[in-house]
Amino acid sequence: MTKYQKRPLIIDTDGGVDDALAMIMALNCDQLDLKAITVVAGNIDVDQATNNVLRVIEIVQPQQLPLVAKGAKKPLLRPPLNAAGIHGADGLGELSQFKNADGSPRYPQLTLEPSSEDAINVLLQAAQEYGSELTIVTLGPLTNIATALQRDRTTLQKVGRIVIMGGAVKVSGNISPAAEFNFFVDPDAAQVVMESGIPLTVVGLDVTMKVTLPLQDLENYAQKQSSLVSQFMIDCTGIYMAFYRDNEDFFGCYLHDPLAMGVAIDPSLVSTESVYMVVETEGRFTSGMSLADLRARRDESTFPPNVDACLGVDSDRFMKLFYSLVHSRD
Ligand code: RIB
Ligand code: CA
Repeated sequence: MTKYQKRPLIIDTDGGVDDALAMIMALNCDQLDLKAITVVAGNIDVDQATNNVLRVIEIVQPQQLPLVAKGAKKPLLRPPLNAAGIHGADGLGELSQFKNADGSPRYPQLTLEPSSEDAINVLLQAAQEYGSELTIVTLGPLTNIATALQRDRTTLQKVGRIVIMGGAVKVSGNISPAAEFNFFVDPDAAQVVMESGIPLTVVGLDVTMKVTLPLQDLENYAQKQSSLVSQFMIDCTGIYMAFYRDNEDFFGCYLHDPLAMGVAIDPSLVSTESVYMVVETEGRFTSGMSLADLRARRDESTFPPNVDACLGVDSDRFMKLFYSLVHSRD
């Protein structure tokens, strides 16, 4: 691949607020050829998450429209669990509350529609067509990826790398003391992916909780760069940031999914350790926990490294990339 050729990418997302910020980055990134956005149940149900993806595309208005394909409605084995209390009832900060000066809805009826193609087939067809040139960035539970592996393991194993927002190596979880939300919702899918043999980069809470977006900074940015996109970023993050104000003592939000997107664009933003990682699927108190073997004398023949776990991040350089990529073209 030449230096100036765009890299084929697929985003798999559960359609929440930080997912939307990550999608804006990807849609504006000249280095990426965003082939498709596949949708999975997580932050919100898969139908609403699909609408949220379409909403982001309509607001960004990219020159090339990515295919949007609906995927898994629920985890492999567990009952569905959502995060509507954090992302808002619609998963995007309850956009219907916002009106224009003339009283019309600021976010009217969608005009774009999803593909009729099933997300799992989209993932497998892309793996077949683009092979090791393809990167998949996952921003939600890993149900679609695991289902694609179960349907046609050999084909999905052709992809170059999967960059996963999920897990926590040296820090506590967020949805439970042990587990991060994406792995907690579908631990069985996460473990299937850990065993896939595909090159994996795990962008966990160890690094995503080191990249924060204070409301004040977002407001300053939106004031300087007034656009449909910056207005949307203010509107969709209202409920999400209030959750952090009330529960984490800072008025802003962690940029979990945007950092995963940043790592897919520029892996030098993070320092990683190649480790053996598993995801607990049986634990009464630890279900969804990502357990990495960090022992000094680890036996790599018994526990062969299967992921590059992110342990450090250049937060300042990432924030520069974030603001450069959310900057609207309009
Ligand atoms: O734990 C954070 C992750 O869970 C993010 O992807 C967020 O969008 C939710 O899906
Ligand atoms: Ca997400």
